[in-house]
Amino acid sequence: MCGIVGYIGNKQAYPIIINGLKRLEYRGYDSAGIALFDGKKIQLSKTKGKVVDLEARVAEEIETKGSVGIGHTRWATHGIPNDVNSHPHCSNSGDLVLIHNGIIENYASLKTELINRGYTFKSDTDTEVLVNLIEEIKKQEDVKLGKAVQIALNQVVGAYAIALFDIKKPNELVVAKLGSPLAIGIGEDEFFVASDASPFIEFTKDAIYLEDEEMAIIRLGREVRVRKIKNDKLVNANIQKLKLNLEQIEKGGYDHFMLKEIYEQPTVIKDTYRGRLLANKGIIKLGGLDDNISRFTNADRIIIIACGTSWHAGLVAEYIFEEWTRIPVEVEYASEFRYRNPIITEKDIVIAISQSGETADTLAAIKLAKQRGAFVYGICNVVGSTISRETHSGSYTHAGPEIGVASTKAFTTQITVLTMMALEIGRVKGAIAQSDYMLHLRELELIPGHVEAALKSNEKIEEIAAVFKNAKNFLYLGRGVNFPVALEGALKLKEISYIHAEGYPAAEMKHGPIALIDDQMPVVVVAINCNHYGKVVSNIEEIKARSGKIIAVVTEGDTEVAALADYVMEVPDTPETLTPLLTTIPLQLLSYHIAVMLDKNVDQPRNLAKSVTVE
Ligand code: F6R
Repeated sequence: MCGIVGYIGNKQAYPIIINGLKRLEYRGYDSAGIALFDGKKIQLSKTKGKVVDLEARVAEEIETKGSVGIGHTRWATHGIPNDVNSHPHCSNSGDLVLIHNGIIENYASLKTELINRGYTFKSDTDTEVLVNLIEEIKKQEDVKLGKAVQIALNQVVGAYAIALFDIKKPNELVVAKLGSPLAIGIGEDEFFVASDASPFIEFTKDAIYLEDEEMAIIRLGREVRVRKIKNDKLVNANIQKLKLNLEQIEKGGYDHFMLKEIYEQPTVIKDTYRGRLLANKGIIKLGGLDDNISRFTNADRIIIIACGTSWHAGLVAEYIFEEWTRIPVEVEYASEFRYRNPIITEKDIVIAISQSGETADTLAAIKLAKQRGAFVYGICNVVGSTISRETHSGSYTHAGPEIGVASTKAFTTQITVLTMMALEIGRVKGAIAQSDYMLHLRELELIPGHVEAALKSNEKIEEIAAVFKNAKNFLYLGRGVNFPVALEGALKLKEISYIHAEGYPAAEMKHGPIALIDDQMPVVVVAINCNHYGKVVSNIEEIKARSGKIIAVVTEGDTEVAALADYVMEVPDTPETLTPLLTTIPLQLLSYHIAVMLDKNVDQPRNLAKSVTVE
């Protein structure tokens, strides 16, 4: 969590850093700060609140001149969000200025040692400890800034992406990474530093992504030098050409990123299967899978690890994989998996799902699975992310940047990849009938059009949202492959509207949650045309008998559920295994409209951050 931006070059640093922070606000937005060097002294401004609050504060209190600077948008770990705890943090002498994304776990003992040496601290943060540790080492060892950073980082335990400079050497930025992402943009006579490439995309397409345990000294007029933090070895850093463009990270006329991302789903689902799914030839080509197909067909078990929405995609995959591949599947919260003593054998395959590719718990679970001999396959959206590099092989989703904190298009593109994987493994293993395989290939190609059709219900869903926006609780029910969709629908509502919502398998309702039902309780039921249709109709009858209000997701043309439900949201017909790609859409729209009507910050809900890089 937290977003960091730095600039050194020949332009004014302030607008670049402020715009960059706005693009990184998805990573944290409880406080923000900036430090510029104007050639004489540090101009430092920090505030609790969002980047717009920082802009207002800057206008009141500092000069914005200077062509070197660093900025930070925070998701608090150590110390409450307030002005003092905001980054950047300065060392006691005032010479060093640092921003940090991550956690220094042994900060307390380091702090005590520094206090014993006479240092004082203004904030409660681990970051202020780090900047003073670097200062102390620089002084004691009489070394340059880069060396002092390296020695300090060898003493800290934890995770970090840092950027700092010394006002006595303002032509140099020092950056380092372990566990949190850090990209360096290389322009002409200028360099950019950021948590991802979005802050500098309009200035350069050349970037270096630091690997864990690497640091770089960025000096004007020189090549970027990347070194290993542990042994000081120079690294031949790979300069990548970025494919990202400005349009992808802007709202494009939508009121919110979340709405834009919901509407992008027909395109990004297609992007995710383009070139990989050749329905007329009966072919699925997924490079990472094809290279390892015998591992999958011979696997004893597949364990899926993920968090949040990605975990819900994993639950959908459990149904699909078991159906088509007949390989047993277990789906685990990465945060639980990493702390138990899981039984993993070399014949197990672990699939890790992560939009950001940076989620700390998922990353730790991957490391554990690898240590125990499992083959680990990653499904990530962010190219070059830590998880995509830590896994043995994998497939990217092609959702493009997901900026709304509530995940939408990441979920449907993850399911698209998982569906292709299950079909291909099933075909090679001979576990799926050829006719079934061909049917699903053809139907998968129709999904983008079906999503477009489902999006046409937007206005009707907005009307339903208006009816239920003041409800205090919601229940979401689904069966089979749509049970995870119910969980996902409930999660979307909770996180952006702050209304309590629970997802349940529809049949489980009578084992407890039915006690909650009364005429104040909206129940969202996924009741599409499928194997369980009759059973779901019975569940709806049970809710009606207790005066619950039914909002049903139904297949186009449905009459039976439509006659029972108070409101219906239609999706096109498709084979049951593919329905989550459609039934999710109205639930995303419902939560979006309720949150907008309640005047909530849809793209930046309270207490959340897009990538959870702390455990
Ligand atoms: C919910 C949401 C989170 C993420 C979770 C995992 O809308 O966005 O629950 O799904 O934090 O993140 P990734 O997929 O980046 O590992």
